[in-house]
Amino acid sequence: MEENRGQWGSKIGFILAVVGSAVGLGNIWRYPYLLYSNGGGAFLVPYFIALFTAGIPLVILEYGFGHKFRGSGALSFARANKKFEWLGWWPSFSSFIILTYYTMILSWAMNFLTFSFGKTWGADTNSFFFNDFLQVSSGPFDIGGMRWAIFIGITVIWSFNWFISYKGVSGGIEKLNKILLPMLLGIMVIIVIKGVTLPGASVGLNRLFTPDWSKVKELDVWIDAYGQVFFSLSLAMGILITYSSYLPKKSDINNSAFMTAFANSGFEFLCAIGVFGILGFMATAQGVPIDEVASQSIGLAFVVFPKVFSLMGPIGTLFGVLFFVSLVFAGLTSSISLMEAFVSAVTDKTGSSRKKVVTITAIVGYLVSVMYATGAGLYFLDIIDAFINSFSIVVVGLLEAIVIGWVVGADKIRKHTNSVSIYRIGKWWEFMIKFVTPAILIYMVASNIINEFNNPYGGGSYPTSALILFGWGVVGAIIIFATLTSRAKWKDGTLEDIDNEEVA
Ligand code: ALA
Repeated sequence: MEENRGQWGSKIGFILAVVGSAVGLGNIWRYPYLLYSNGGGAFLVPYFIALFTAGIPLVILEYGFGHKFRGSGALSFARANKKFEWLGWWPSFSSFIILTYYTMILSWAMNFLTFSFGKTWGADTNSFFFNDFLQVSSGPFDIGGMRWAIFIGITVIWSFNWFISYKGVSGGIEKLNKILLPMLLGIMVIIVIKGVTLPGASVGLNRLFTPDWSKVKELDVWIDAYGQVFFSLSLAMGILITYSSYLPKKSDINNSAFMTAFANSGFEFLCAIGVFGILGFMATAQGVPIDEVASQSIGLAFVVFPKVFSLMGPIGTLFGVLFFVSLVFAGLTSSISLMEAFVSAVTDKTGSSRKKVVTITAIVGYLVSVMYATGAGLYFLDIIDAFINSFSIVVVGLLEAIVIGWVVGADKIRKHTNSVSIYRIGKWWEFMIKFVTPAILIYMVASNIINEFNNPYGGGSYPTSALILFGWGVVGAIIIFATLTSRAKWKDGTLEDIDNEEVA
């Protein structure tokens, strides 16, 4: 079994793959609109607190756990303590669900990439996106028609995911990241340099660096910050556990954890600077205050940016193309990691060939994704994404801290990571994992649940039945699937097949 699992070809291959997983739609599509709607730079305070109190400690935890138990999330938990195997399946199923809507956003990005050449979105980019392109229906229960352009995009993305996953860990995932990630960084640097040198960019940058502090007092802003740190670092999705299980025995885990977190936040911040520069340019060009220029929603990348590219004149075509290429590249390296978290868990459990599992996963995932290509797709995305982030990912992070910290033993994980790493982490980390991270996350989760009951998601725009079905229902289904799957039998010998002596 052990020898059938994949392995990274090199340490840099691993770093590029985890950074490729972390840097994704969360950085380019989600982070800018969260930052914009949560008081600009004021969002950075809860964001960095979330990064240091939960993000980085949990990255170390997941790396150490996956590396010590040498398995996907499911296998690692089953090996550590069979009673908690379900906690390994929960994030794997979350990853699968995220992947189904992630492919839709990637499909939008691919479509907009083709629109960029002729700027076919016209003058009213808002109407173009929602009415012409998405043809959004009247509500989540009105499926509307099939959006064939989105359907084709979804088909292309799933085929691509299938192909790369099929090629394996070092032959597919590692190669893809080695090519796309440096290109992505290069493109982003060009966009940011251009963004901050546009006329009026300083208006946007001032907004970013002159935060609206009143926002820091709002609970929602903190919930968004923790959700974003989890989503962006690919935490609690089974990805980091799986990826670190593919590392050779002697690998500098601690150092890699800090590198991943800082590379991801650095990239996120780079995007923020570019985005606010561009928003400043747009506000100035239109003679309106910056607060009025952008929609505070998921449309930022697909409504505001196209408008900016039109305002930029001929060079806007190039920037449109570069921007949507960066979105597609960033998203592909993350979607492949979401796929891997699921595929690896199923392969470990069943002992089936990777190729077979990849193919079945791709077919089932693709069929689920197709429902997002309808007029109600935006509603599905909006509700499912909100509930997965608020109630699935953060809860899994909390449970991981408790179960690995207290039951498996934070000291064991620290001892393991220190035994293989050059940089050693101190006892502070155990204190964080056992006390600080759980305390904060319990508070976040509890407040979030109370908040959801008092002010249901969407501020009244969704019927309760839709929130129950697509929100609570999807999260509930993930937990049920996780529990049931954990009861199935492992392929003989898998759980015991681990050579786990500490590497000196
Ligand atoms: N970490 C990935 C992202 O930010 C999932 O999009």
